[in-house]
Amino acid sequence: VAMKVSLRVNGQRRELELDTRTSLLDALREHLQLTGTKKGCDQGQCGACTVIVDGRRINSCLSLAVMHDGAEITTIEGLGTPDKLHPLQAAFVKHDGYQCGYCTPGQICSAVGVLDEIKRGMPSHVTADLNAQPMFSADELRERMSGNICRCGAYSNIVDAITEVAA
Ligand code: FES
Repeated sequence: VAMKVSLRVNGQRRELELDTRTSLLDALREHLQLTGTKKGCDQGQCGACTVIVDGRRINSCLSLAVMHDGAEITTIEGLGTPDKLHPLQAAFVKHDGYQCGYCTPGQICSAVGVLDEIKRGMPSHVTADLNAQPMFSADELRERMSGNICRCGAYSNIVDAITEVAA
């Protein structure tokens, strides 16, 4: 069954007619040609497909596009430009927060979500004490970023990059 869906992607209104089974990831990559968002596992285990929907990070492979009618979606293409990188993009470059780069768009979108969660005082599993400071310790960030897998193992540099922006 096809359905009309209207998404606001990186500030632009996009109208699509999609099979109701189309994931948000496939809508972005196959229908809007926004291939910055990556498909790793396609089953919610790697985080490569992370995008920001109405301010929250989600695995776009696990979500149907038609569920997001009217939503505001930000992908890696919407975060910065080659001339003016988003602070997290600049920090990933500075700290070498990648090797092959395949997981990087998801890592950065997820980190945008993490910084927002910290700002809003949202607890994670390691923040048992909400008053514990800082909420962006390396352990804290590792826990919050644990849904984003990096097969190259660039984790310590990724944490360094996010720490710089969070501090
Ligand atoms: Fe969505 Fe792996 S592609 S979590």
